[in-house]
This record gives sequence, structure tokens and C-alpha cells, in this order.
Amino acid sequence: MASRLFDMTGKVAVVTGSSRGIGRAIAIELARAGASVVISSRKAEACEKVRAEIAAEGGTAIVVPCNISSRDDCESLVRSTVAAFGRLDALICNAAVNPYFGPIADVPEAAFDKIMASNVKSNLWLCQLSRQALAESKGAIVIVSSIGGLRGSAMLGAYCISKAADMQLARNLAVEWGGDGIRTNCIAPGLIRTDFARALWENPDIEREVLRNCPAARIGEPEDIAGAALFLAADAGRYTNGQVLVVDGGMTISGG
Ligand SMILES: NC(=O)c1ccc[n+]([C@@H]2O[C@H](COP(=O)([O-])OP(=O)(O)OC[C@H]3O[C@@H](n4cnc5c(N)ncnc54)[C@H](OP(=O)(O)O)[C@@H]3O)[C@@H](O)[C@H]2O)c1
Repeated sequence: MASRLFDMTGKVAVVTGSSRGIGRAIAIELARAGASVVISSRKAEACEKVRAEIAAEGGTAIVVPCNISSRDDCESLVRSTVAAFGRLDALICNAAVNPYFGPIADVPEAAFDKIMASNVKSNLWLCQLSRQALAESKGAIVIVSSIGGLRGSAMLGAYCISKAADMQLARNLAVEWGGDGIRTNCIAPGLIRTDFARALWENPDIEREVLRNCPAARIGEPEDIAGAALFLAADAGRYTNGQVLVVDGGMTISGG
């Protein structure tokens, strides 16, 4: 007797920003669960390495480059996926940007616009473009948000506003598209050891602060997020909708 709750055999998943970091870890885990996976980022060559890793383990993956800030690219990502596999079961909106570190009072307008466009509007595009295919498959959307979207931040405020908006996007699509059989949820990772957060985890003061306030007493690794994505994408998450799953080693509840 074997559980099929986490079995993605026959399912198709798109993961934006999956050439490295959290997206790569999610893509590999979904492929291990049996899904055919579309590896995507701005750089085809970097994606190709992940595709080859998955193929080497016996999984199925293709590469479709996509800069999420281009609507045409987003359209081509969804179109190419359905053309290649005939369906789409899981859209993982993982790619995001943060071109500004500092107080909101001083954020340049162009930086704020870029953060909101890439982290919120592009996710909305991808969801809109995937809606029909996801309705046909009774599929799932997973948006990678951040614990930054749950609290104020002295230096990451603009980014945190975009991540809070992602949480509301998930809640709203859950309400609007739940009747189509589409589930939409967010993951809110804590500090994860990737290039994106290098400036944070390489700073000894911030690292010490994190280790002091995180009950798990360590910085997260990209693989720590993959299980949550699999849960939300797979049948295991079939009654979970519009939620934010915090995966931060307990940092948020510790009050640190
Ligand atoms: N690391 C953390 O501590 C942390 C914490 C909370 C939330 N998050 C969230 O986790 C997600 C993934 O971040 P990460 O830490 O894994 O970052 P990462 O290691 O820097 O990886 C980012 C990925 O996104 C791709 N990417 C960047 N800009 C893109 C664009 N405009 N269009 C398409 N792809 C793009 C990158 O590939 P290319 O350069 O080839 O495009 C790469 O594959 C983000 O949503 C981030 O906000 C991260």
C-alpha cells in the first residue's frame, strides 16, 4: 500500500526562476515526485544544467527561457508548456527581484515600480495566462512570497510590500477561481541560503541575529522549501486554498 498524496506522475509543472536557488530545489523535487517540469529563467544555459540534472536522475524536464518582466515571455512560457506536454497542473511563481535595499522614504520610483511589476504584476500575468489550462487540470498555483510580507522591515520595505501583495493575490485568486477547481497558495520562506539573500546571510551580524531568533538555529537551505511546494502542488494540498505556508524554522513565531 502506497500513499499517492504526493505523487505527481502524469502532472506538468512550470517553475519560474528555477535555474538556481529555491526554484531549482522545487523543480527537482517535483520531478522526483513524477512531474514533468519546465525549467525557466532569463538564462537558457543555466536552466539547461538543471534540466540535465533532472534527466540524469531519470526525470523529465524541458527548458523554456522567460524573463518574467516580459508579458510576451510569460505568454510563450505557458504556450510552450501546453504545446510540449498537452497540459499544465502546477504553476510555481518563484522568480522575484529586489533592486533596492533601504528605507521606503528614499526608494527611487523606478525601483519601486520594478519591484511591484516583477513580483506582483508578472505573477498575475502568469496566473491569468495559465487559468484555462489549470481549470482543465484542476491544478494549483503556488506563489513564493516571503516572511517579509508578514511584518515591517527597516531596509526591505518595498520588497516586503510586494510580498504582502502576493499573499493577497493568492487569497483573491482562491476566491475568484476556487469554483474552477484551481487552488492558489503562497509559501513564505524565512532566510534561505541563496544568491538572492547573500548580502543578508553573509553579514555576520545578521547571521548571528537570525541564529539567535530562529528556533531551528540555522539558516534555511533551498531544499527546505521544496517539500512545502510539493504539498501545495500535489493532491496532498487539495483542500488548502488561499493560504500562506510559513517555512522559516520558526523565526516568525519566535518574535525575533
Ligand atoms: N533567499 C531567501 O532568503 C528568500 C526568502 C524569502 C523569499 N524568497 C523568495 O524566493 C524566491 C526565489 O529566490 P531565491 O532566493 O531562490 O533567489 P536566487 O537563488 O537568486 O534565484 C533566483 C532565480 O530567479 C531567476 N530570475 C531572476 N530574475 C528573473 C526574471 N526577471 N525573470 C525570470 N527569472 C528570473 C534567476 O535566474 P536568472 O538569473 O537566470 O534569470 C534564478 O533562477 C523569490 O521569490 C524570493 O523573493 C527568498
